[in-house]
Amino acid sequence: MARVDYTERIPNNVSLADDRRLMRALEEWQPRYLDWWREMGPHGFQAKDVYLRTAISVDAQGWAHFDWVRMPEYRWGIFLAEPEPGRTVAFGEPKGTPVWQEVPGEHRGTLRRLIVTQGDTEPASVEQQRQLGRTCPSLYDLRNLFQVNVEEGRHLWAMVYLLHAHFGRDGREEAEALLQRRSGDADKPRILGAFNERTPDWLSFFMFSFFTDRDGKYQLAALAESGFDPLSRTCRFMLTEEAHHMFVGEAGVGRVVQKTCELMREHKTDDVRPFGGIDLATIQRYLNFHFSVSLDLFGSEISTNAANFYTAGLKGRFEETKKTDDHVLREATYPITRPAGETIKVVEAAALTALNERLRDDYVADCQRGVDRWNAVIRRHGIDAELRLPHRGFHRAIGNFAELRVSPDGRIVSQAEWDARHPEWLPTAADQVFIGSLMTPVVEPGRFAGWIAPPARGINGQPIEFEWVKLAVGGDGHEG
Ligand SMILES: [Fe+2]
Ligand SMILES: [Fe+2]
Repeated sequence: MARVDYTERIPNNVSLADDRRLMRALEEWQPRYLDWWREMGPHGFQAKDVYLRTAISVDAQGWAHFDWVRMPEYRWGIFLAEPEPGRTVAFGEPKGTPVWQEVPGEHRGTLRRLIVTQGDTEPASVEQQRQLGRTCPSLYDLRNLFQVNVEEGRHLWAMVYLLHAHFGRDGREEAEALLQRRSGDADKPRILGAFNERTPDWLSFFMFSFFTDRDGKYQLAALAESGFDPLSRTCRFMLTEEAHHMFVGEAGVGRVVQKTCELMREHKTDDVRPFGGIDLATIQRYLNFHFSVSLDLFGSEISTNAANFYTAGLKGRFEETKKTDDHVLREATYPITRPAGETIKVVEAAALTALNERLRDDYVADCQRGVDRWNAVIRRHGIDAELRLPHRGFHRAIGNFAELRVSPDGRIVSQAEWDARHPEWLPTAADQVFIGSLMTPVVEPGRFAGWIAPPARGINGQPIEFEWVKLAVGGDGHEG
């Protein structure tokens, strides 16, 4: 069962061949997906051979196979983690009852919405990143970008499979709509705010992969607890792929920080811009931006929707089964942060309605661990500086702080102070021009742009100077 069937047009481990109707529906969706990929996927590289991993099994060990692939020929497929025999719902009212293999009628609309919202982020990020290949800092980074892109495409497949298999006609319509919306489009935008922002440069890409893909990890982890077993199994397998995306972000920012520190030491200055590096203050502003827009993805601190999802057994907490409370939370409270007059206070709220905030807390702690590792790079260079996560109220558009101006150190500030100081806190137009000026492609094997250090090692044991993407073959590169 773990082996993936590659003789099918759509590789899968869900015995698609036994369900002709479903298979036909997905085979009809497939060419439209490919049209979307050609139109909105990586621009200029569709005919190039890329050294990519493809899922060939869902075993924890050895699930991936590496080979040269042209992206439109990537074997996108449907892979669910193995079922857990005897699995029961771990939380909410249905706690302790067998998980559902079909959608419970009363939760149909809610589950569809959860799946569509998750599914919509996957193609959105591909759209956001589609121009980045043209300014890659190295072939190694170019390959990593494309790996992330094809896997986000597969995540779309994962959600579309659920829609087709379990939601009938509504599901098929939603699957179509997922190919129709476009990131940043005024008329048909993607559903969530952060997925309509631009990813115009590689510093933004690394920050996005660290902060926004990590939101994905926490949302998937919460859905992996779902009582709807096909959703749980889908998300569990997606999480194995997601780990690489966060690696790309964390290592990418870490390598930028490392290069900055090397330049600071060499030239004995904080101002490394004249030497082609990105100063720590600019890195901090990009961090502030991407962290704050990613925090919004978790929703309002107090949310009856979140409470309802939980009580219905649809969406759990991060590592729900490892928690030792009653998994019902009717009596429990949870601390949330909110403004109180001139200050910001922590108050106890009903744990059920505070579940978004709780997931956000798990996320923030995980982000902090990554920031600590970046700071260790700075310290290793003997530099007395550190990167910091801004206060959770900073630059928020959703929740308790949406109507307020909050500084990165967590003070409620006046509009006048915000206007005067936000260029210290968020990327300015001048920052964007400067970062843009660094974005000239470096494509000789083993070479790296001057603003980023090489990685410690290559992918899958290959040397760093490996030809990760074969640019010489496959036409002029502008067929995409
Ligand atoms: Fe994804
Ligand atoms: Fe991702």
